[in-house]
Amino acid sequence: MWTDDLTVGIDEIDSQHRSLFQQLEKLLDACVAGREREEVMTMLGFLDQYVVTHFATEEGLQQEYGYPEFDRHRAEHAVFLHRLQFFKEELSASAPSRDFVLRVNQTLIDWLTSHILTVDKAASEFLLKKMTG
Ligand SMILES: [Fe+2]
Repeated sequence: MWTDDLTVGIDEIDSQHRSLFQQLEKLLDACVAGREREEVMTMLGFLDQYVVTHFATEEGLQQEYGYPEFDRHRAEHAVFLHRLQFFKEELSASAPSRDFVLRVNQTLIDWLTSHILTVDKAASEFLLKKMTG
């Protein structure tokens, strides 16, 4: 799922992004393999915590360097966290179905991919100029 064109050029962010994709892949594999719901819930919990940390890293850098699109970027992050919350609630009520896997794929992975390619790249371009200049 991870491809080189997702690289934004800031090492800390790139390695967090790669880790996010790996965690999402593992989560989906566990669902497909029919693992226990508790195990999948735990993975989703870890993912949630990691996402919060990752967004804090990005937002912290943006604040530190006075990124003008900070509010908009943070609002996008909030949408993702909201969707993640929705999946957690769904999983706490029923076992992961094929439909669940499909929607996690479509909602979380597609969101993350397009977010990185557009808003994260734009933010990183700004940050890199500030950090190196
Ligand atoms: Fe972001």
